[in-house]
Amino acid sequence: MTKVITTINEDILSKKICFIPTMGAIHEGHLSLVDLGKETNLNTLVSIFLNRKQFNNTEDFINYPSQLEQDIQILESSGVDYIFLPEESYIYPSQGVPTVLPGKVGGILEGLSRPGHFEGVLTVVNRLFDLVQPSHAVFGKKDAQQLFLIKNMINEFDLNIKIIEGEIFRDENGLALSSRNKHLSPAAKLNASNIFSNLLYVANEINSGKDFKESVELGSNLINQNEIKLDYLDLVDEENFKYPNKYSRKLKLVIAAYVEDIRLIDNIDIKI
Ligand code: PAF
Repeated sequence: MTKVITTINEDILSKKICFIPTMGAIHEGHLSLVDLGKETNLNTLVSIFLNRKQFNNTEDFINYPSQLEQDIQILESSGVDYIFLPEESYIYPSQGVPTVLPGKVGGILEGLSRPGHFEGVLTVVNRLFDLVQPSHAVFGKKDAQQLFLIKNMINEFDLNIKIIEGEIFRDENGLALSSRNKHLSPAAKLNASNIFSNLLYVANEINSGKDFKESVELGSNLINQNEIKLDYLDLVDEENFKYPNKYSRKLKLVIAAYVEDIRLIDNIDIKI
């Protein structure tokens, strides 16, 4: 039986928790993270908290999809143990919540286009970790830079939390599931699947030995021919999120683009 809670009490703290943080507008991608959480056989706790601090743009915050009643129903049917719905004042009391700075990697790619975004993400995730005290936490690989920075924070702060990474959940055309997709028209959704085809194309070029820069340039030109406005398409070394060098073996091709003015991100792993 799922319990809906707004604060964390001693009873919850006495349990071993697998934590799945979300900002709501639950979709199948979130549910795949819940499934991974359930595989731990620990108590699963899903938070829904729309974190104002990680939005660099007020309009984006206001327009972020929200469907709380439906989310609760979906999560109850998925069999999670707790749904945590904190008030903003519980997450951010007037004092005592440290701001977490993301460092250099927080200022590139998503961080460059959305100044302050990762500071907001790390600050809330650290605060949630502090409240929930999970032994495990699940994050999706779609937000690759976020995942990298959270793992960094865990190392840096020496937190005893095991991170479980969820694969990107895609629709039948390859579009990565995201709460923001709810704002896309059916035609835009179909068009947005070009983002993934483009990643596959560039990955294929790189795998067949083509030059990194040329492949990315080609991919950027191709994607801009659709009704897609590219923000960035870039290659990073998975180990450090820097531009790959001749020793890099595990690469990530990361992309952010706008379709019907909705910002979408995606990525693909390339092993060379
Ligand atoms: O990935 C998200 O949904 C959010 O960035 C997170 C991790 C829940 C923090 O607000």
